[in-house]
Amino acid sequence: MQSKFLKGMLDFVSDKVQDESRQGEAFAPFTHDPNQYKKHFYIESYGCQMNFADSEIVASILNKEGFGATRNVDEADLIFINTCSIREKAEQTVRKRLTEFRKLKEQKKGMLVGVLGCMAERLKAKFLEEERLVDIVVGPDAYRSLPALVNDAEEGQKAVNVLLSRDETYADIAPVRLDSNGVTAFVSIMRGCNNMCSFCVVPFTRGRERSRDAASIVAECRDLFAKGYKEVTLLGQNVDSYYFVDEQNDETITFGKLLEKVAMISPLLRVRFSTSHPKDITDEVLHTMAKYENICNYIHLPVQSGSTRILQLMNRTYTREWYKKKVATIRQIIPDCGISSDVIAGFCTETEEDHQDTLSIMEYSRYDMSYMFFYSERPGTLAQKRYTDDIPADIKKKRLNEIVNLQNRLSLESNQKDIGKTFKVLIEGNSKRSEADWMGRNSQNKVIVFAKENHPLQKGDYVNVTVTDCTQATLLGKITQ
Ligand code: SAH
Ligand code: SF4
Ligand code: F3S
Repeated sequence: MQSKFLKGMLDFVSDKVQDESRQGEAFAPFTHDPNQYKKHFYIESYGCQMNFADSEIVASILNKEGFGATRNVDEADLIFINTCSIREKAEQTVRKRLTEFRKLKEQKKGMLVGVLGCMAERLKAKFLEEERLVDIVVGPDAYRSLPALVNDAEEGQKAVNVLLSRDETYADIAPVRLDSNGVTAFVSIMRGCNNMCSFCVVPFTRGRERSRDAASIVAECRDLFAKGYKEVTLLGQNVDSYYFVDEQNDETITFGKLLEKVAMISPLLRVRFSTSHPKDITDEVLHTMAKYENICNYIHLPVQSGSTRILQLMNRTYTREWYKKKVATIRQIIPDCGISSDVIAGFCTETEEDHQDTLSIMEYSRYDMSYMFFYSERPGTLAQKRYTDDIPADIKKKRLNEIVNLQNRLSLESNQKDIGKTFKVLIEGNSKRSEADWMGRNSQNKVIVFAKENHPLQKGDYVNVTVTDCTQATLLGKITQ
């Protein structure tokens, strides 16, 4: 999935975690009076945007049961860690955090530690044996049972629920917006994944794909807009396979239709989405994007590899040529579309020639940005069962470095092309470096930093900005009268 906040390198470059700057962030809503609650929970989230969105569901469920969120771990009666299993490194990070929580727990009697999310689902009750001081283990489809499990744990019982569901979408739960900038928000539109890419653990940790009731999605977006939000990002592992039958109105809702419904809430509400699977993104979606100015011209279209042979082993179900055609169609229907990607270096049996194919497809696609990883074998996946993880670590790293270097050049070139252009920018807040500057994004999802000067603007406003300069990661600009 795409990052909202770019590149705050937590890890060394050779295993880039998505949305690095948010990894491990602890959240607390600002709107709640901390004294209103008898007990407090602290939640730290890792992994993709969907996990961060789930933490907001968890906060909502716990709020209803009388628990308030806190940013201060020392104040917490309950500590939750919402975990990711996508690569081995992600799991190692979680284990390290758990050791730190263990120390806190030893100091504070009665404090409970809960593991949520994909690693909870993958390891199940084993967690309680492996990490003795974990009290609660809950998978992504079982968050409604959290209050009961907290009670069980308080009574000293084992508290585990990792049941996956075919229909849970938490459609009726209004997420508590945690640590929000008040301008941009994420809205889950589906859960799970049916794709079975051979390298990927998600189908095992998140279960079968299911789409959330369209009316509840539109209602949530409308409510966000009424509260002053100006941008929603519709989230799913594979948004283009969204499919919902509204029996009351006898209407079949595809992703294109859903996008349109959300876009029609207001021209002042920007709509983004993530992630698109290249095999599933339809011309209907592209034409809908072209038709509505407020649907952002930006697609995250993970290629994974540029070699047809590797793509087949990955079970991605498209070829190099098919992917290139998709990029050409996007550029034809939406000429100024931003495109980003995910790339894996060193998948099983990858040759130098396969690797060169990856570099050349990146060059062809001219990605504005990519998340780049070396292959990390995950237990239980098809690749782990069928193939040998046979590319030595030093070669994986060398190839990944070449991929990262190429992407750095492509990002810089893409930004340089924008110098002199004027974009409509949604202001998200102060720039990280200076309160004298605003930070916002253009439709293509590029970050633009510009001086506030004396304009009476605030976050959440749209403003025209002309690009005057750039770095590889950021455009720099000036407000245009
Ligand atoms: N649903 C999204 C991606 C979810 S996982 C999609 O299909 O595009 C995010 C990214 O992590 C993937 O696109 C892939 O590039 C990377 N990834 C997944 N499993 C991995 C593994 N075992 N090793 C390295 N990278 C992996
Ligand atoms: Fe994983 Fe593939 Fe599903 Fe994405 S589409 S979550 S990579 S199985
Ligand atoms: Fe990680 Fe689970 Fe997301 S494995 S990437 S948190 S779906």
